[in-house]
Amino acid sequence: MKRILSGIKPTGKLTLGNYIGALKNFANYQEDGESFIFIADLHALTLPIDPDFLRDNIRDIAAFYIASGLDPNKVTLFRQSRVPQHSELAIILQNYLYMGELSRMTQFKDAAENLNQNAIGLGLFAYPVLMAADIVLYDANIVPVGEDQTQHVEITRDLVNRMNNRYGKGTLILPEAQISKVGKRIMSLSDPTKKMSKSDPKGDIFLTDTPKQIRKKIMSAQTDSGSEVIYDPKNKPGISNLLMIYAALKEVSIEEAEKTFANSMYGEFKKAVADVVVSELEALQSRYEAAINSGEVEAILLKGEARAREVADVCLHRVQKAVGLR
Ligand code: TYM
Repeated sequence: MKRILSGIKPTGKLTLGNYIGALKNFANYQEDGESFIFIADLHALTLPIDPDFLRDNIRDIAAFYIASGLDPNKVTLFRQSRVPQHSELAIILQNYLYMGELSRMTQFKDAAENLNQNAIGLGLFAYPVLMAADIVLYDANIVPVGEDQTQHVEITRDLVNRMNNRYGKGTLILPEAQISKVGKRIMSLSDPTKKMSKSDPKGDIFLTDTPKQIRKKIMSAQTDSGSEVIYDPKNKPGISNLLMIYAALKEVSIEEAEKTFANSMYGEFKKAVADVVVSELEALQSRYEAAINSGEVEAILLKGEARAREVADVCLHRVQKAVGLR
């Protein structure tokens, strides 16, 4: 049976990019194999974060996992920090990933660019080591993520090959990133040449936004010159991004979405995109409220944590044995 693993880090309010690129797809895998979906709370400490905000955000992400259709009876939902095997394995694996390759990671370079050299924690630099541990610990075959995380899965694959060459085939399982065809990279609404990210309030749609906020943001999204609704990310990044959002939520191809709006003006097209986003997020929000009000979120995470520890021990022991610690 295939193992599927993915996680979201609770560093900010979840965005439509997180939803389309990752969250929305997780439930599609729950019948295909055994899924492990977690909250990457240790990763959230790699940049400064308020403790109360972090605590609330962890619970919120768990509730959004449930709201997105993940069934806690089929999927193991848990918090990374409550499964100590992640940290234990990361301490071993850090010896097999090298400074040069870590310093070439785009996510590290982007984050470090905005920081004073003396404010870059070791954890930010070593981020891919912990992420590799997250993935291999569950012998994951498939890792559904947005496009920005593929580099981290690639470095995990390099690590797996390195370990298997040195300690024998089967020491670690080789994972593969699974990127959705439509919606792998949702762009900022205020600057469609940049990725929509949790830290960009103007260009983001948050999963908790009200219909009024969503409509306002989409109607004022930056668009391009010309008047045709066509997919051309290079010359029409704004319109292409909105087409991508529409197609991903309607679950149609980009070509079908283009056909739907072949005779539409920008205003009419934006209104249709806003309608789709509002209806998707209203339904998601009511399931999210139900999850929070059920009072069961904590118990679900506790149950997941127990199962995760059990599974994680198998890989950790195998690695400890391979390297000579057992
Ligand atoms: P994070 O929390 O930044 O993002 C969670 C998921 O959302 C996707 N995503 C997007 N997809 C499309 N368009 C966007 N604008 C967009 N923004 C974010 C991300 O690609 C991701 O899939 N390092 C990870 C968390 C993590 C993890 C793991 C993931 C830690 N360990 C192990 C998979 C496996 C992260 O920071 O994701």
